[in-house]
Amino acid sequence: MSSTGSGPAAIPWAELEAAALAVRDRAYAPYSKFHVGAAVLVDGTIYTGANVENASYPLCVCAERCAIGVAVAAGGTRLAAVAVCTDASPPSSPCGACRQVLVEFAIDPATVEVVAINPAGERRRWTLAQLLPDSFSGRELPT
Ligand code: THU
Repeated sequence: MSSTGSGPAAIPWAELEAAALAVRDRAYAPYSKFHVGAAVLVDGTIYTGANVENASYPLCVCAERCAIGVAVAAGGTRLAAVAVCTDASPPSSPCGACRQVLVEFAIDPATVEVVAINPAGERRRWTLAQLLPDSFSGRELPT
């Protein structure tokens, strides 16, 4: 029996972080000047997103939600890992709205990890359940 091919696949953290770092250059952030890149591993594929701002400020879209939208549009459903890159030191964590959206697609919030990085190489890491404990999952909704 082969010892490969069973159990959860390893997370390609180096590629995920590199993708978040690279897509950060595409951020459209003329108002905040806060450039954010995000990479999500969904169904084994890396999808990326950047923040997209608007002169009507409440319409700004965060990088994490942009990446999830790209993944879903490609047919993805199961989120296994997240990397977010900003210039902040220490690296900035996802906002509350993005945490909720990430939880929606997480294989398991208790095990799905989010890494926040910056170009200087600093790194912070949490599980989604740490970032958003006791989250609303929709299980409470009537069927
Ligand atoms: N932003 C993100 O892209 N992700 C977050 O989790 C926090 C904030 C963006 C939104 C806006 O374009 C800029 O950062 C400042 O809030």
